[in-house]
Amino acid sequence: MLKRAAMGVKSVFWRFLDPFARRLFHKLYYHHYRTQTWEDTWWQGVRVLKSPNDLWSYQEILYETRPDLIIETGTFNGGSTLYFAHLLDLVGHGKIASVDLDPQDNLPIHPRIVYRKDSSTSQDTLDWLREECRGADRVMVVLDSDHSREHVLTELRAYSGFVTPGCYLVVEDGNVNGHPVYREHGPGPTEALAQFLAEDHRFRPDSRRERFLMTFNPGGWLRRV
Ligand SMILES: C[S@@+](CC[C@H](N)C(=O)[O-])C[C@H]1O[C@@H](n2cnc3c(N)ncnc32)[C@H](O)[C@@H]1O
Repeated sequence: MLKRAAMGVKSVFWRFLDPFARRLFHKLYYHHYRTQTWEDTWWQGVRVLKSPNDLWSYQEILYETRPDLIIETGTFNGGSTLYFAHLLDLVGHGKIASVDLDPQDNLPIHPRIVYRKDSSTSQDTLDWLREECRGADRVMVVLDSDHSREHVLTELRAYSGFVTPGCYLVVEDGNVNGHPVYREHGPGPTEALAQFLAEDHRFRPDSRRERFLMTFNPGGWLRRV
């Protein structure tokens, strides 16, 4: 009886603490220790601006959904691009088309990767991606370029049609603008998502991808139904 009461108190304690603890950890990780956390995260020697939690979620998604094509906006160093390519090697098929307006030098070379240097929202890029999608039955999209509300909303409207049923549309870095970090950023991915989900009912946020307690993409793991 006493043991059960003690367990009840413990559970109430953790439920009470949970939101504070999550926010605190996210802030510590994102702000205070940034130079040793997400700014110093590497995949096979290439820098990748993601959290290990989220990289693990991508691993699970690629295994489960086995995309023929991953479209990525925001190549930067190509760390996430190379990570996806190696995961597709394990899965045994698929390719990646990665777009960046101003990518870093010496991008990793891998037979599954094609790069394009251009704006993610230019008509030429969208035409190029349409060609890349030819013959791909399962297409996934990762939006990780300019994180302003306007740009992400434009991307969401332009790229959502590429995503095939059952596959994911991942909107990166919705944690900014105070969700719960980087309040000074201003309206970003989370605000774009709110507008997009109100106008497009083909996608549902998959909360399972947030179960590791911290994700840089709260509400941003969308699955096409
Ligand atoms: C957050 S970084 C990408 C990080 C990378 N995906 C990773 O996980 O390591 C954002 C990138 O978006 C690019 N970018 C900014 N505006 C863009 C646009 N309009 N079109 C395409 N890329 C853009 C920047 O040049 C930058 O390299």
